[in-house]
Amino acid sequence: MCGIIGHVGDDDAIETLLTGLENLEYRGYDSAGVAVQNGSGIAIEKRSGEVEELKDSVEEGSLKGHVGIGHTRWSTHGPPTDENAHPHTDETTDVAVVHNGIIENYAELKEWLKERGCEFTSDTDTEVIPHLIQYYLDEGLESETAFREAIDDLEGSYAVTAMVSDEHVLYAARKGSPLVVGIEDDEFFLASDVPAFLEYTDSVVFLEDGDVVIVDESGIECTDLDGNPVRREPETVDWDPEQAGKGEFDHFMLKEIHEQPTSLAQALEGRIDPERGRIRLEGFGPGSFEDVDSVQLIACGTSYHAALYGAFTLRQADVEATALLANEYSVSAPPVDENTLVIAVTQSGETADTLNALREAAADGARTLAVTNVVGSTAAREADDAVFIRAGPEIGVAATKTFSSQVVMLTLLAQRITADRHGQPAADLESLLPELSHAPGAIETVLEGTDAPDIADRYEDSRSYFFIGRGLGYPVALEGALKFKEITYEHAEGFASGELKHGPLALVTPETPVFAVFVGEEDEKTLKNAEEAQTRGAPVIAVCPDDHRAVDVADAHLSIPDTEPELAGLLANVQLQLVSYYAADNLGRPIDKPRNLAKSVTVE
Ligand code: M6R
Repeated sequence: MCGIIGHVGDDDAIETLLTGLENLEYRGYDSAGVAVQNGSGIAIEKRSGEVEELKDSVEEGSLKGHVGIGHTRWSTHGPPTDENAHPHTDETTDVAVVHNGIIENYAELKEWLKERGCEFTSDTDTEVIPHLIQYYLDEGLESETAFREAIDDLEGSYAVTAMVSDEHVLYAARKGSPLVVGIEDDEFFLASDVPAFLEYTDSVVFLEDGDVVIVDESGIECTDLDGNPVRREPETVDWDPEQAGKGEFDHFMLKEIHEQPTSLAQALEGRIDPERGRIRLEGFGPGSFEDVDSVQLIACGTSYHAALYGAFTLRQADVEATALLANEYSVSAPPVDENTLVIAVTQSGETADTLNALREAAADGARTLAVTNVVGSTAAREADDAVFIRAGPEIGVAATKTFSSQVVMLTLLAQRITADRHGQPAADLESLLPELSHAPGAIETVLEGTDAPDIADRYEDSRSYFFIGRGLGYPVALEGALKFKEITYEHAEGFASGELKHGPLALVTPETPVFAVFVGEEDEKTLKNAEEAQTRGAPVIAVCPDDHRAVDVADAHLSIPDTEPELAGLLANVQLQLVSYYAADNLGRPIDKPRNLAKSVTVE
């Protein structure tokens, strides 16, 4: 997963490209580069390292032009070196290309091109593309046709943007990797994701797989690979550029943690009526889910933890439900039929593993639904239906506010599905919905009163960090550990609290703090498990309401307001997000861009 930006218009391309790359850095930050048409061919600046370093190099040089492309890389083929940074060119630098995705047949293409005299300078799969385009140009084809021929030769997934020397045109294509076009009067932007150009426009064309788009100063032309016109209408995105900035916070992650009261309120707006005990999901009239016999939730990473949470609430609502890791789906998917609802839970809507599982389920005849944050994303477009979590842009690689919104949306869905199937919801909506409507305020309380900075300081020299929970506390324990390891680089593991004594207890020492999550379900058992760790010397940090019995037993306490179990996990998770954040900050980690990771994982 990498970030692509392209610009055509009267304004200076370099500024737009560098701003776009900064906005896209969450997609990759191993290396970066830009290329512009500077009046006498294509000028390129690229290097390993972050966009900031590229900016310094660009300032020293004299790149100028109105048309250009840029790229921020997350390495797949070849290490993050200057040579492997994009844009890539043919030997003559007549063609420059940026690419996101994997070209599966690149080795054969490279061999074929080498036999025809092409010389390669990088380890990347991408470099075959400019050579292919140049090959077809040498054959006498027009640039547009040469581009289409080159794209036709590729197998795998790609979002590609190319330019040919001295042309004020960008050629782009997508298959399996996202690409969007931004339009502002006679300025045009191509990008992997909307935040790249949100400062300039909110008018966006979401390209679909198989689309080829030609962008020049007169406008955009969308076609299929054979050149047949395809209609793609611009949509207005309601993300505010402010939301894509860091504001007063040191990191996007902290900002996004603090945005949760607002993002949750947005997720709930118009969807719950606490007074009448009703849930309304736009696009899903009464009875929409009456044929659903069972539910499979497919997801990865943090979204998988939200899926576990969702499956648990569904089962509590008497609906057969399983959460499955999307990357394991092809080898272990349970059978589906038309009465199986397969829910892809994915913030970005672009995770390759999740999309593949979604496609497999659809091909096997399941009904599909995407629960996603991104309108126009591949998951939203490919699934039969979509529910949007309305969390706003999430830039920090660590997912935070989107987890909360996913959990809340899945909680609502669980009640809707069971109400459609059984004629009434499983939970007492007259108590659940008012609690849900108070969730933004409860998160605010957690944020204002948190002791997370002290806890992070107190346990900063530990060897490992364990997180335990039962029921809805279990996915929260897993999520607490994932967040912790992802941004602190310290070892952390999450366990079902009852599992501790079946093996992990052997790891417990005074240097392994145990965060115990209490959500109000079989808390006595969780407390007993925590005490078992405490007896072996481990400090226990109880995440629970102030009047909980665990507070007297534990060595430290992270407070959450007293609420329904469906929401207690959500509040506990906010405390754990904060602990991870402050622990990573103490260690001086690059919190928004943890090493080796990227926000949107568009490769398998
Ligand atoms: O966009 P998705 O929700 O499909 O992403 C899935 C995971 O890659 C993602 O949640 C990842 O685990 C996060 N970086 C965790 O903070």
